[in-house]
Amino acid sequence: MTDPRAHTDHRSVAMIVGSVSEPSLNARFGDALARLAPRAGLTITTVPIDGLPFFGAHLQKAEDYPDVGRELKDAVDGADGLLVVTPEYNRSIPGVLKNAVDWLSRPVGESSFPGKPTAVIGTSKGVISTAVAQAHLKSILASQGANLVGSPEAYIRYSEGLVDDEGNVTDADTEGFLLTFLRAHRALIDALDEG
Ligand code: FNR
Repeated sequence: MTDPRAHTDHRSVAMIVGSVSEPSLNARFGDALARLAPRAGLTITTVPIDGLPFFGAHLQKAEDYPDVGRELKDAVDGADGLLVVTPEYNRSIPGVLKNAVDWLSRPVGESSFPGKPTAVIGTSKGVISTAVAQAHLKSILASQGANLVGSPEAYIRYSEGLVDDEGNVTDADTEGFLLTFLRAHRALIDALDEG
């Protein structure tokens, strides 16, 4: 893998956090990833999903696609990569996240996913963390043509204080692992760009 410390340029990543909870563990975790990102040659910008209405097929016409959907798509389409931070709800992804995925998948022929270098991560306090939610999400995204980071998988079990109030990861091993994860995303972005 390319040494990201050698990068003088940064690649942009749109980050969607699949939670509208207040506070949200995954939003806090996403903030920590954004803070680490420059060390992996990435600049992460959060793309909000809390203002999206429920998607329905009546909304999918390209000629009058709602502005709120266009704004979401523009933010993702304009970034070099997509990072999705998912909680796990009832052994799957939260409905708000699936709703955002549906908005991004339309209008027909204008999906934001085909070829997009995409990384999936998430945190919960559960013993298997977000493993099942991530498996579902990866299946959905692969079906839409996203190019997924296959390795490492990142199921982060959240323990109290893992991310401090300044957004620092307090455990050195976890921080190192998250840097490895972000560098794999950067490497995929570069590889697809060159290919
Ligand atoms: C949960 N939670 C949860 N955790 C988990 O590890 N596996 C699960 O299947 C579920 N299921 C679940 C369902 C519902 C409806 C809620 C509200 C919660 C707990 C969940 O991990 C916890 O609430 C996290 O804080 C959710 O992430 P955010 O929203 O705080 O980012």
